[in-house]
Amino acid sequence: MRTVAITGAGSGIGAATAARLTSDGWKVIGVDLRGAEIEADLGNPEGRQAAVAAVTDACGGTLDALITCAGIAGLPGRPTSLLAAVNYFGTTEVMEGLRPALAKGDRPSAVAISSNSTTTAPNYSVELVEALLAGDEVEALRVADEVAGESMLEYAATKAAVAYWVRQNAVGEQWGRAGIRLNAIAPGMIATAMIEEGRGDATVAPALDQFEQTIALGRPGRPEEMAALLAFLAGTESTFFCGSIVFSDGGTDALFRTRDFPQRWVV
Ligand SMILES: NC(=O)c1ccc[n+]([C@@H]2O[C@H](COP(=O)([O-])OP(=O)(O)OC[C@H]3O[C@@H](n4cnc5c(N)ncnc54)[C@H](O)[C@@H]3O)[C@@H](O)[C@H]2O)c1
Repeated sequence: MRTVAITGAGSGIGAATAARLTSDGWKVIGVDLRGAEIEADLGNPEGRQAAVAAVTDACGGTLDALITCAGIAGLPGRPTSLLAAVNYFGTTEVMEGLRPALAKGDRPSAVAISSNSTTTAPNYSVELVEALLAGDEVEALRVADEVAGESMLEYAATKAAVAYWVRQNAVGEQWGRAGIRLNAIAPGMIATAMIEEGRGDATVAPALDQFEQTIALGRPGRPEEMAALLAFLAGTESTFFCGSIVFSDGGTDALFRTRDFPQRWVV
């Protein structure tokens, strides 16, 4: 039996993934603010440490997979620093904290959740992306609130930093070269509580309606569709994936950025 820890397991993509892997026979250790086996706030260092300790305890120090779904969207009035703390540090610190347990696992795999906003939302802050990747949380949260823009825009910056962190580390000594796969998925619009929250806001709702028009398949994705992809990446049939950012977005990225990827390498 494989053992997986899933953050954000209380709702949406995380909950669907927990249900899918449980029905596939996995032992699932869920982490969330509430409604999961382990309740912890991944928006601050103490909460992350507590989550890492509790997961390590629950899995007996050996983890086969880790899926970090916990995240929040931008909203008017919501500080950008909160997105930076939850979406970026709530991913990378949990990844780093549980890496020793993954190192003892069977064909271990870690999967983060980026977003197709990374390639389809324009003009997010490069300063914020760099500050996040630099890893000093106090400074990054300052940049988030004092240099970067409002959280609706900078959601994409936090998700771009997650994608770059994954690609940098996936090929390094502690992850890929130690036999631990590290990848991310980049979902498009998925019908979850996060999108419902946006639809309830008069400023965000029209932007979501417009974004929905960019989906060639004509509908938002379902959490179960992300769960199937995450089950594949966390499992033992994806053992040559390393550093991939797998888009699953009904066609939005292909529509916006048709020729951006693959791109010819010019030296
Ligand atoms: N829904 C989409 O359209 C979409 C698109 C791209 C990426 N994503 C990403 O997918 C992931 C899952 O989102 P979802 O759509 O399932 O949303 P959701 O709101 O249904 O689930 C997110 C979960 O994260 C938890 N969470 C939030 N802050 C937390 C904190 N500080 N500590 C611990 N847990 C916390 C919430 O309690 C919730 O259970 C997020 O990272 C999100 O950014 C979602």
